[in-house]
Amino acid sequence: VVTIHAQQKGAPVSPVLHGIFFEEISHAGEGGLYAELIQNRGFEEANLPQGTHLEDGFIVPERTPHFMLKPGEASDWKMEWPLHSQWPAWSSEGNISLALTTQQPLNSATPHSLEIKATGAGSLANEGFWGINAVAGHAYNLKFYVRNGSYKGPFTVSLQSADGTVLASREMNIAGKHTWQKYTTTLTPVRNDPAAKFVISFGGKGTLWLDFVSLFPENTFKHRPNGLRADLAQYLADLKPAFIRWPGGCYVEGINIQSAPDWKRTLGPVEQRPGTYSPWGYWSSDGFGYHEYLQYCEDIGAAALYVLNVGVSCEYRSGTYLPDDSLQATIQNALDAIEYAIGPVTSKWGAKRAAAGHPAPFPLKYVEIGNEQHGPRYAKRYNVFYHAIHAHYPQLHLIASMGIGDVNRHTLDSMQHTDIVDEHAYKGAFWSLNHYDHFDKYKRGNWDMYVGEYATNAGVGAGNMAATLSDAVYMMSMEKNSDLVKMCSYAPLLVNVHDVDWPVNLINFDAAHSFARISYYAIQLFNENKPTVNLATQVQRLAPEQPLPAFSGGIGLGTWDTESEYKDITVTQNGQVVYQSNFAQGAGPWEPVRGTWKLEDSAFSQTAQGAQQFAWLKGRSFDTYTLTLKARKKEGTN
Ligand code: AHR
Repeated sequence: VVTIHAQQKGAPVSPVLHGIFFEEISHAGEGGLYAELIQNRGFEEANLPQGTHLEDGFIVPERTPHFMLKPGEASDWKMEWPLHSQWPAWSSEGNISLALTTQQPLNSATPHSLEIKATGAGSLANEGFWGINAVAGHAYNLKFYVRNGSYKGPFTVSLQSADGTVLASREMNIAGKHTWQKYTTTLTPVRNDPAAKFVISFGGKGTLWLDFVSLFPENTFKHRPNGLRADLAQYLADLKPAFIRWPGGCYVEGINIQSAPDWKRTLGPVEQRPGTYSPWGYWSSDGFGYHEYLQYCEDIGAAALYVLNVGVSCEYRSGTYLPDDSLQATIQNALDAIEYAIGPVTSKWGAKRAAAGHPAPFPLKYVEIGNEQHGPRYAKRYNVFYHAIHAHYPQLHLIASMGIGDVNRHTLDSMQHTDIVDEHAYKGAFWSLNHYDHFDKYKRGNWDMYVGEYATNAGVGAGNMAATLSDAVYMMSMEKNSDLVKMCSYAPLLVNVHDVDWPVNLINFDAAHSFARISYYAIQLFNENKPTVNLATQVQRLAPEQPLPAFSGGIGLGTWDTESEYKDITVTQNGQVVYQSNFAQGAGPWEPVRGTWKLEDSAFSQTAQGAQQFAWLKGRSFDTYTLTLKARKKEGTN
């Protein structure tokens, strides 16, 4: 029996409770929200991420002296290099031979070009992102650059079906010049094919160099050039998010500091953007860059929530930390990013925004200082960034990252200001039903909470009704604790079904189709029917409580996150138990650092070390798993 006390009003429910979180994971942007149809358009995808090398087919980050782990405890993370071609997504047939070259590049951001030697009829094809969606009657704008050495003969661009049926075709006149020339045309298919390919056919002989081949549907969201895929951008707009968190996630952290994203590299002509290697195992062209992100926020009436890299890379990957005394450039870069978004047109970066066609400020309201970092070392760094940003932009809401349940520990004590703290929550099926009072028990303090990433993502396949019911109860528990929880965003948002990096996602798509899971509609329902205020309620049980079939915990690929997993951690030294802890309560001087996972389903069973499992986990989901954590002493404890 539920009794509602209509006169006993509690905290108002936050009007900005529901936002969205975009990260370049599972080709969410590249081959997803970003409407470009050519994969590897600049022939740069065979590049290794900066600051890494290949060892036995694995990407290994350079080991710098600045590890988060204890000295001598160097990260052993490595990731399988997924590429087996020098020109991924491109293939050739007939009498042409290919080579990648760095001679006479188009520009320094796209140092490689494809050398093509034709000795007779032949063709070069791009498969798009697991197909190109050719829609009859729709225009596709093609742009490419050629440096012609000696090639003479026909040069035909086309969209074709897998069986070679031509859907649209144009003959191009490739002038015999020795400098780079830009060519443009429009292809308009005569019939539909959801999995077409782009083809260049050669009928002559000679050598030429090709670079930066781009094919864009004219029909982008709001018809913006270099814009977004209309169906996916509309799905997000229809959620009416109060804010958009961008660009990550682990993506912000990078697999090391050198390869982490830098907003400045994402501005300007797309040909001059070098791209960023996503920690999820592929390159982003950065076509959906900082300006495009801010523009999209404005287009759909959402506030921007920009996440900074604070000179720290992902702990589960290389775990590198820029030394405290070399932070000035990183801080200045953060201030420049803010100035680009909201500075006056008379400022250096505000002027660049105006020159890019947007003199008015963008709706940047929130800045998050790092992603998923925590502990005293991070707190020190957070304080430095907080003060630097707050001094210049007191109107911005600054967000601290933290570990799960940190507000209940003393972890936040060393942070001098905590306007908003971001906690992430991936849970198993029914977890939220069994823990419906989860936030009721949270310590209150001088902070608001933002649940920057949440999802029910274990024991629910790729997402089902049980997941949605659990998500819905979780959202209700946030509403109920609206004095504490002011903002939230589900994660991950988008998944290309051909490259699944994470088990459960909100919106699934391939080149031609997209559909939103039930949780999407639950979030929409909650957002469109937000209560204004909580009323006091009493719940009287008529039958004894039956525990729900609890799944043992959520799984994040590369992180572990449920309290149950943190319980009963035993630390042994020379066979003697020296410590036993319940990490959920934050008790004791130990914290988990790395683990061994055993994941099983009916078809598959494997054990992997720490975060090393990324490559082989892709696209799989598991029924059961066991986790053995290694622990380390917390900083500042004996
Ligand atoms: O949402 C997927 C990942 O989960 C994010 O990149 C990271 O922040 C979290 O661990």
